[in-house]
Amino acid sequence: MKNRLWTFIGSRTGVIAVRRSGLPLLALLLLACSDSATDPTADDAADDKAAIRAALLIDPDALPSYVRDPLPAFYDANILAREDRTIGAPITDAGVTLGRVLFYERQLSRTGTVSCASCHASATAFGDTARFSRGFEGALTTAHSMRLVNGRFNQDGRTFWDKRAPTLEAQTTQPIQDSGEMGFDAAHGGLTAALTRLAGLPYYPPLVRLAFGDSMITADRVQRALAQYVRAIISTRSRWDVAAAQVFNPANPAASINGPFPGFTAEEQLGKQVFQGSGCAACHTPPSFSLSGASRSNGLDEGETRIFRSPSLKHVARGSRFMHDGRFTSLEQVVEFYDSGVQAGPALDPRLMVPPLVPGGPPSGIPRRLNLTGAEKAGLVAFLRTLNDDALAADVRFSDPFRR
Ligand code: HEC
Ligand code: HEC
Repeated sequence: MKNRLWTFIGSRTGVIAVRRSGLPLLALLLLACSDSATDPTADDAADDKAAIRAALLIDPDALPSYVRDPLPAFYDANILAREDRTIGAPITDAGVTLGRVLFYERQLSRTGTVSCASCHASATAFGDTARFSRGFEGALTTAHSMRLVNGRFNQDGRTFWDKRAPTLEAQTTQPIQDSGEMGFDAAHGGLTAALTRLAGLPYYPPLVRLAFGDSMITADRVQRALAQYVRAIISTRSRWDVAAAQVFNPANPAASINGPFPGFTAEEQLGKQVFQGSGCAACHTPPSFSLSGASRSNGLDEGETRIFRSPSLKHVARGSRFMHDGRFTSLEQVVEFYDSGVQAGPALDPRLMVPPLVPGGPPSGIPRRLNLTGAEKAGLVAFLRTLNDDALAADVRFSDPFRR
């Protein structure tokens, strides 16, 4: 049992051993790498399971299944080729489970009050209904929270609205270290302080051992587990998906999906045609409705130089604020913007401009106007609502696992 008094966490300088067992935490810095995080004995395995069950609504003998979720047939080879290619490790049930616990872990904020889920709630597609979200001491974020659904199909792998994080893995530990969001910034011990705190909680060493084979809690493992959880959040049960599954023809994938959908009202069907015909689908690509990797900005502000991305439009209607700064309060406003409000600027995507003035010449730079009718605009909004996925919102596998 002696190993169990100590938990090892990796840090840049070596390995930190953290004494557990109820005493105040004592952190030692060992400069050499240690291999002391040894395999558990049978007793230890039983203790591991008890520690998980005591804190969490998770049965370590029957972890929820994430890896066996089949994707619908219309996620064919062409679509799968667009998956985020930065994926370093395949999703495992134990990896996603650890990620889920971390995602709902309030101890990842300095005051123990805010978790990832505080700003990314499952009921609202892992986004926030408020324009800006409140961090651990009430400070407001400067951007609107992003929905995390279908992040796995984020083609170029870069994250945040302005694509500043190179990978999902790199992104996951940034909120923890953000002074306003979770507060483990450099002045407060940084990520090492957060890892030290995790190592002192009885359920992490066992969960890390299940996911990665030994109990070492490292920044890399926390990143990989959180990224696995986010990549497991896939929306395949919206009304759009149910209808697509009925008409999909592998011999003619595009034509079958672009045709009429069973169960859609005339208004939704009209909106579906506008979504395809007005170029929305070229950027927000079905069936994942993630942004195509080659997309540039959508012209929210005149002269904009930054290239923004959009989260998948799956479940977008569950939100009440739209765009990176949450400037729009309804989907009607969004549609109005695309119809008549697109602004010129260096970052504007050529697909939102009128065609080149000389055929085959350089992009015109002139924002296009769609001139949609009232019925087409209403249809587009109705169509966007068919992307809501209530089954995903209610899926217990992604819910808060803590016994609170
Ligand atoms: C205080 C609120 C808050 C907390 C806490 C928070 N986030 Fe976020 N999250 C945001 C905001 C706001 C954005 C958009 C920020 C931006 O682009 O500048 C965002 C963006 C993201 C993105 C980028 C999604 C994409 O498609 O590019 C991911 C992934 C993410 N958060 C995951 C997490 C994880 C994992 C945690 C916990 C470790 C977390 N967030 C904690 C508010 C929060
Ligand atoms: C050139 C690519 C492109 C085209 C074409 C395009 N969009 Fe977008 N869309 C974006 C980008 C980029 C964003 C994120 C902009 C931001 O917040 O800075 C976005 C954001 C959105 C959002 C808000 C997402 C959120 O999470 O807040 C909705 C809804 C949306 N688009 C719908 C549409 C519709 C409907 C059409 C067709 C009329 C369309 N888009 C055409 C690129 C595009």
